Amino acid sequence: MVDTPYDLDRTRSRFPALASGTAHFDGPGGSQVPVDVADAVHRTLTTSLANRGQVTAAERAADAVVVDARRAVADLLGADPGGVVFGRSMTQLTYDLARALAKRWRPGDEVVVTRLDHDANIRPWVQAAEAVGAVVRWADPVGVELPVSAVEAVLSPRTRLVAVTAASNLVGTKPDVPAIAAATHAAGALLHVDGVHYTPHAFVDVHALGADFYACSPYKFLGPHLGVLAADPALLDEVHPDKLLPSSNAVPERFELGTLPYELLAGTTAAVDFLADLVPGTGPRRDRLRTSLAALDEHENAQRDRLEQGLRAVPGVTIWSTAASRTPTTLFTVDGHEPAAVYRHLAGAGVNAPASHFYAVECARFLGLGDAGAVRAGIAPYTSPSDVDRLVAGVAALVG
Ligand SMILES: Cc1ncc(COP(=O)(O)O)c(C=O)c1O
Repeated sequence: MVDTPYDLDRTRSRFPALASGTAHFDGPGGSQVPVDVADAVHRTLTTSLANRGQVTAAERAADAVVVDARRAVADLLGADPGGVVFGRSMTQLTYDLARALAKRWRPGDEVVVTRLDHDANIRPWVQAAEAVGAVVRWADPVGVELPVSAVEAVLSPRTRLVAVTAASNLVGTKPDVPAIAAATHAAGALLHVDGVHYTPHAFVDVHALGADFYACSPYKFLGPHLGVLAADPALLDEVHPDKLLPSSNAVPERFELGTLPYELLAGTTAAVDFLADLVPGTGPRRDRLRTSLAALDEHENAQRDRLEQGLRAVPGVTIWSTAASRTPTTLFTVDGHEPAAVYRHLAGAGVNAPASHFYAVECARFLGLGDAGAVRAGIAPYTSPSDVDRLVAGVAALVG
């Protein structure tokens, strides 16, 4: 138990989108955004701004936005601000990193991917490996769990990189990443962790996870649409992505192609500040994040338990997200009803809980769900008990 209760009404009051009355369970696809984030984006676009520099006030303003955003993300992840890279999306950053790392791979080297992962942490590695004649080895889940042994079984002295998710965006499973990191490092390989679905639901510590590279997306944690890669600056210094001749060769700038979206970076800082302030307090931002995210965890798990209890009472509902350690993301099917039909039915009742494989297509196929996938209900900081009850009532009404 955390000492300070989570103030759901206070949180919800900051989200203008909730005025529509829609119950949003589509957060794992992209969360709603607090007005504080939108204001930061607006402020940045309407202030005197230029490209980063130190001569004019407008240049210094852009520079400050970038420096602040790297600090904010570093606080969020327990990372070094000097190793925080911004890009358009996690997918784009992972493709870029895979291509850059593959320059050092040789035919016969090996790369490990898993069938628990979103395709953005699979296909960039598979295709980069294929381009240089490296071998791809697959770690398969056992049911919805990804035991460390599944990764260990495919490690070898030729392994150069292991790509694993910190949390499945389909079934919520949180594998034991520190143990996978230890096995990966013992094999002499690097670990790339997909933190896109994990970051909105956890107090992240990239060092404790053992991640050499950690990727996430601010639009999943109340921020704007962009992607983040965090790594030790010394490790990034060894990697040489393709870049323009006149662009900076410094780390992390050499990984950021073209001009950064300053307004979105300001929105990202505002999102981190918003998360840190979920439980109002004083002190360093990282400490406030720890307190706030503990309270959020309690709130989200309580809503997930309420949801799953309600769904279990509806005849014909199967809950697929059953891992021992998981995010508050519930995946379910309803006997006799296509997932897409359940999705449409709920949408008609003002409840947004989409159906898909959500790009975790290997996982959906592995579980026997096929490409139709299942219905996913993601709990978010703004999810209320009445949202949950509406979802359960909607499913119950469908079953009749
Ligand atoms: C677990 C996971 N990884 C990666 C991605 C891709 O993120 P982006 O849209 O930033 O490329 C997603 C998006 O849904 C995701 O849920």
